[in-house]
Amino acid sequence: MSVTEFAPAKLNLALHVTGQRPDGYHLLDSLVAFAEVGDRVTLTQAPLSLQITGQFAAGLSPNDNLCLDAARLVGAEVAITLEKNLPVASGIGGGSADAAAVLRGLARMGHPLPPAPERLGADVPVCLHPRPLRMQGVGEILIPLPPLPELHLVLVNPGIAVPTPQVFAALPTKTNPPLPPFPDRPDLARLVDHLHRCRNDLQAPAVALFPPIRDCLDALDAEGALLARMSGSGATCFGIFADVGAAGLAAYRIGTVHDGWWITATKLASAPGAG
Ligand code: C5P
Repeated sequence: MSVTEFAPAKLNLALHVTGQRPDGYHLLDSLVAFAEVGDRVTLTQAPLSLQITGQFAAGLSPNDNLCLDAARLVGAEVAITLEKNLPVASGIGGGSADAAAVLRGLARMGHPLPPAPERLGADVPVCLHPRPLRMQGVGEILIPLPPLPELHLVLVNPGIAVPTPQVFAALPTKTNPPLPPFPDRPDLARLVDHLHRCRNDLQAPAVALFPPIRDCLDALDAEGALLARMSGSGATCFGIFADVGAAGLAAYRIGTVHDGWWITATKLASAPGAG
């Protein structure tokens, strides 16, 4: 028996850092949604192993990966193939999204989800059930959001792997205000308006440490993004565009001048049951 699970890119549409726990982890208030691009894991009953394929396989070790930790956490003997389509250490879920996909696949194979999956990584709980959510605490408090409108996106990564702890450490203040209340069933205009009243508190410190992130945001703005923002601790930035044509054209035009960047036009994955 073999099962395949999609590990969609996680986007922090907004991310406020509201405090810090005594163990050093930061308290967040974040709007999280998932894109239609992602990695893919395939699981087969066999002794534990990992093979990594795909555009971003190079540089990842098949002996040291959260996918293996996820399988060990539930005591599964499983051969894992990870198709790594998303850039590594890039603010869009990465290892946490892949580990969550392994846990989902193993649940289908008869291994119940483990308690406290956040032990694997702070973003694992949110990636276990990919749909629009408000995420609080260090990632363990998940509140479903009302359905979001169709969102056409361009994701841009300048090819820099960003160490998350370094960005958190560079935060000028760790007690920022929480997110404003989320509007009820917003259309595109209201959602964009709402997001403009939110921030990613990690963006300024990440840009200061890694200036090419600013170039990504500027490129998205120059192509007419309704909103351009960094996801997570970076370096991937997303732009929200008015329609599929605008997103496709922006991705194409940015690609013509930034050869080494990872650029993709995509959509927000629609939530199950979303209108
Ligand atoms: O849990 P994860 O391995 O994804 O986190 C990587 C690092 O990011 C942590 O070791 C910590 O330094 C930082 N972090 C944090 N607060 C969070 C999430 C991550 O300080 N809520």
